[in-house]
Amino acid sequence: MGARPRVHVCFPPPGGVREEILAMPWDATLAEVSDTPRSQVLSDVRGCDAVITRLTDRVDAELLDAAGPGLRVVANYAVGFDNVDLDAVRERGVTVTNTPGILDGATADLSLALILAAARRVVEGDRFVRAGKPWRWSPTFFVGLDLSAGATLGIVGLGRIGLAVARRALAFDMRVIATPTRSHAEQAADLGIELMELDDLLRASDVVSLHCPLDASTHHLIGARELGLIGPHGILVNTSRGPVVDETALVDALTSGRLGAAGLDVFEHEPKVSPGLLELENVVLVPHIGSAADTTRTAMARLAFRNVAAVLDGRPPLTPVPLG
Ligand code: DGY
Repeated sequence: MGARPRVHVCFPPPGGVREEILAMPWDATLAEVSDTPRSQVLSDVRGCDAVITRLTDRVDAELLDAAGPGLRVVANYAVGFDNVDLDAVRERGVTVTNTPGILDGATADLSLALILAAARRVVEGDRFVRAGKPWRWSPTFFVGLDLSAGATLGIVGLGRIGLAVARRALAFDMRVIATPTRSHAEQAADLGIELMELDDLLRASDVVSLHCPLDASTHHLIGARELGLIGPHGILVNTSRGPVVDETALVDALTSGRLGAAGLDVFEHEPKVSPGLLELENVVLVPHIGSAADTTRTAMARLAFRNVAAVLDGRPPLTPVPLG
């Protein structure tokens, strides 16, 4: 009988997936805490056939070489894989998998929560009430954007998550437009979503929601010029990746009134948040919790585990990242 494959999980998996992993005929180790430092990760992955990584783990030459030549699969516990150096994994013949499909609903829910919170000033209102300031109802008090009176939502990146956001926004009677999509053009047509180029979309939107992956082509996709196109009454929501937005330009636009408001789940230098954002009333901030819903996080862990099991069994992975 051959040696048992060595598997390391870089975080404690939720919802019984830990037990499922430990029941496998593997020599498995699982981190006890979610914030294991890099130096520990590099030592933990030594000699591994498979590693399950967090989106905060840089899967680069250093990590791959620390694991060694026996590494066969890296299962990333996220749909995004901008933390993976695709050239480095390709050169070493390592399979990479991600967790598409199962976090669309949870991420779309959070996008809607941010849209609603920013449009109707929910968090600002909460802070106001808690501050104990005197107030009285009045026709113009805490007035925000009326989403259901024909406000337009512009979706940048109409993939699975963008589409789930679109369906929710349509239920709120919003008009939905999106940037051109190859993968979901048919669904867009079925839902009556008009497709247009980015600049036209930014000009036409009351709310812009970002759902594109982070890569070289989307880094700082939204900068000072694009924020200017959204305009002083517009709202920007980002649940994709922080560096898609130039955060310095965002702070400037919000501070100067060139952009109306923002709802942010992700940050350019996560977990750091630009100090300017913390001072603004017209921004809703949450700590990268798009997929942080109980059954979703368990399903993500189970999918990562099953991807590892497939590859170690010599079967094709369920959800491979295309390496070109
Ligand atoms: C992802 O999966 O890429 C999210 O950002 C975290 O779940």
